[in-house]
Amino acid sequence: MRRKFVAGNWKMHGSLAENQTLLSQLARGLKGSESLDIAVFATAPYLFQCKSLLASTPLNWGAQNMSQYSQGAYTGEVSAQMLQDFSCKYVIVGHSERREIFSENNSVVADKFAQALKAGVTPILCVGESLQQRESGVAEAIISEQIQAVLNVVGVSGFAHSVIAYEPVWAIGTGKTASPEQAQEMHAAIRAQLAKENENIAANMQILYGGSVKPGNAADIFAKPDVDGALVGGASLNANDFIQICKAAS
Ligand code: PGA
Repeated sequence: MRRKFVAGNWKMHGSLAENQTLLSQLARGLKGSESLDIAVFATAPYLFQCKSLLASTPLNWGAQNMSQYSQGAYTGEVSAQMLQDFSCKYVIVGHSERREIFSENNSVVADKFAQALKAGVTPILCVGESLQQRESGVAEAIISEQIQAVLNVVGVSGFAHSVIAYEPVWAIGTGKTASPEQAQEMHAAIRAQLAKENENIAANMQILYGGSVKPGNAADIFAKPDVDGALVGGASLNANDFIQICKAAS
């Protein structure tokens, strides 16, 4: 039985004071949510703040990005080992904003995924198609390619310790959500692709949906059998909204 997982991607937002308020509201509002996996993803300078403030709560925390390299002359980068050094549990890899704005291709994303696994940090692999790709009927092929690139590097066993987030690019931050049926269809296709390699790993894989998830649409999306939770951007910055989304999942 797969647990539901609600992840809050704060993106490049927050300050010590704002985070403190948000984290304490979440800790209070989400007391007793042990049946659910919940995590927030802050920018690197604030990870230690998340670690301190969430220590005795059911909430986890993770990083939004990391380097594809293990160490060396890579100014400005953070390695998976550094994240692991202070018990970071998760890291997002291949978010569409990283792919688009920072030109990360499938091969870079696969290397990051492999580095995270090697360090013992659970990667959350983001995959998603653009609007143009969806309209031209290649959405499934694009997602399959993005997953295959990672399979080629780590093999299916690497997916046993990971999470996948399907985030159609046209639904991120636009207020346009994929319909629950569109999400279900893609999640089932992702699970089927993994099942071809290993049925057990596929059956246990948490596959999250991301793209304009809000309190008003979360329950319908979570009701679909292959949707195991959400990666929430905008609505994760508002404690009430995020708490309501978590409640819809539990
Ligand atoms: P959104 O972002 O919920 O604001 O659409 C989702 C994401 O980018 O992970």
